[in-house]
Amino acid sequence: MFKNKTIWITGASSGIGEALAYAFAQHGARLILSARNVDKLAKVKEQCLQYGGEAIVQPLDLSDFDRIPQKINPILEMYPKIDILVNNGGISQRGLVQETKLEVTKRILDVNFLGQVAMTKAVLPTMLSHKLGHIVVISSVVGKFGTPRRSSYSASKHALHGFFDALRAELVDDNIKVTLICPGYIRTNISYNALNPNGDKHAQLDPGQAAGMSAEKFAKKVLKVIKKQKREAYIGGAKEIFGIYLKRFFPGFFARFIARTKVT
Ligand SMILES: NC(=O)c1ccc[n+]([C@@H]2O[C@H](COP(=O)([O-])OP(=O)(O)OC[C@H]3O[C@@H](n4cnc5c(N)ncnc54)[C@H](OP(=O)(O)O)[C@@H]3O)[C@@H](O)[C@H]2O)c1
Repeated sequence: MFKNKTIWITGASSGIGEALAYAFAQHGARLILSARNVDKLAKVKEQCLQYGGEAIVQPLDLSDFDRIPQKINPILEMYPKIDILVNNGGISQRGLVQETKLEVTKRILDVNFLGQVAMTKAVLPTMLSHKLGHIVVISSVVGKFGTPRRSSYSASKHALHGFFDALRAELVDDNIKVTLICPGYIRTNISYNALNPNGDKHAQLDPGQAAGMSAEKFAKKVLKVIKKQKREAYIGGAKEIFGIYLKRFFPGFFARFIARTKVT
């Protein structure tokens, strides 16, 4: 199903995006790999070729969203039919609201929300012209509930749900699918790259991430979700996923529970 499909992945230089690139490449996909770190992207590209896929690199800073159309239009001229866009690039947070600088909140929203929106708006016209496409959004379980020390990160992921649920409804007659995926703890560099209250890197592998699902296992599950064209999927450890249902069915209990939970 992914053979010769053109798949654009943001955040492809590391973690989940990298693992997704390899999983698609193993199925013979044609990949466009984006992120800021060009050296890492080049290595991911090489590995994709080894796995039997095709791959090109398009460096992109999601926070520079005004320039996204200008960056991606030359690629769209080369590959006018984008079958799947995976909006994955993102940064997390470690810090209480009262100590976190507003500019940190803005940076997280710029990358995690506006960057993904800009990317989608730039790719959407070509999907509409072909009446075909699939937009995959990597949200988080904290896109479904808020936890302490992740206020801005949770807000950015909640915003994705509002935006992409609305887009899915708008596209109902256009044969373009929208899938939101909420990972629990996945073992990547996310906590290392998370921003502290001053905007510096947290620079630690947190216990939650260390004990999380491997990115490779997560990627395999994502491909299944895409095949099934699900609207929304939760992938991760039972405890994190349970939180989503706890909030949905017992919101008062969940509010007390999350306030007492020690989130690293
Ligand atoms: N790991 C988890 O437990 C977990 C849980 C829930 C949700 N998620 C979500 O999964 C996605 C991938 O995270 P990960 O776990 O794979 O973390 P990661 O290893 O830190 O990877 C993050 C990716 O995002 C890219 N990125 C960050 N800032 C960017 C920017 N300004 N412009 C373009 N690309 C940027 C990074 O590339 P460059 O630095 O090269 O730009 C990197 O490729 C994120 O959206 C994250 O919120 C992860």
